[in-house]
Amino acid sequence: MRHEILEKNVILLSICILITVSIGGLVQLVPLFAMEQTIEKVDGVRPYSPLELAGRNIYVREGCYTCHSQQVRPFRDEVERYGHYSLAAESMYDHPFQWGSKRSGPDLARVGGKYSNEWHAAHLTNPRSVVPESIMPPYGFLARRDLNYADIADHLRTLRIVGVPYTDEQIAQAGADVATQAQAEPTDDTDALLARYPKAVVGDFDGDPERVTEMDALVAYLQMLGTLVDFTSYKPELDYR
Ligand code: HEC
Repeated sequence: MRHEILEKNVILLSICILITVSIGGLVQLVPLFAMEQTIEKVDGVRPYSPLELAGRNIYVREGCYTCHSQQVRPFRDEVERYGHYSLAAESMYDHPFQWGSKRSGPDLARVGGKYSNEWHAAHLTNPRSVVPESIMPPYGFLARRDLNYADIADHLRTLRIVGVPYTDEQIAQAGADVATQAQAEPTDDTDALLARYPKAVVGDFDGDPERVTEMDALVAYLQMLGTLVDFTSYKPELDYR
């Protein structure tokens, strides 16, 4: 009965629709603006080191995501093949994320530490040299191209604008950190790098210790994928089982 008042009064009806839709919209949207609360905090997840970030940019530039996903789904076959299913927190600093939608090649979310640096360099240079039946294209030119990281601090600064918590110190040291991480032997600066980026893999990645190449950066990135969270001690905040 009282509903009739609403239905016969266009203005009142419009106002009430507006209020109802706004509540619905807020309930859906507000959590997305507060992503920090939406994603469970997980120990070990940190922003990319400058060298890893440079490698990630090459991964995006070369379109590796057109054949590789980075997302282990919570299904038994995937978990047995690739390892623990991916957590939201593991890609919380990814801009853009690399979940991918196609697997012509295997998922790479947990490829870090699976192979040696030498294997990666050989595989990227000529995939058939280590996996004879591979259909992956060769990327040998990456080892011939010096990594251009003059603007790497700007990349960190830009990511900070969209919410990646890089500190002033990390930004100031970005260029130096690229060189430190790609050094064949640890230097005096290695400890400071590892304090800024725990678990960063340090070393010469492409077999040429004299230069920092695009291959160095890409392999450094591949070697850290999926390695930040220690799954021997990880307990989900909510256990759905
Ligand atoms: C045309 C599709 C294609 C593209 C593009 C491609 N890959 Fe692959 N990739 C494959 C296939 C297929 C395999 C499985 C055979 C092999 O190991 O070579 C593979 C395997 C791999 C592996 C080994 C994974 C494992 O667990 O054994 C890595 C690492 C890898 N690719 C990295 C890359 C990177 C980095 C790029 C971009 C520079 C890239 N791939 C581009 C198809 C592709």
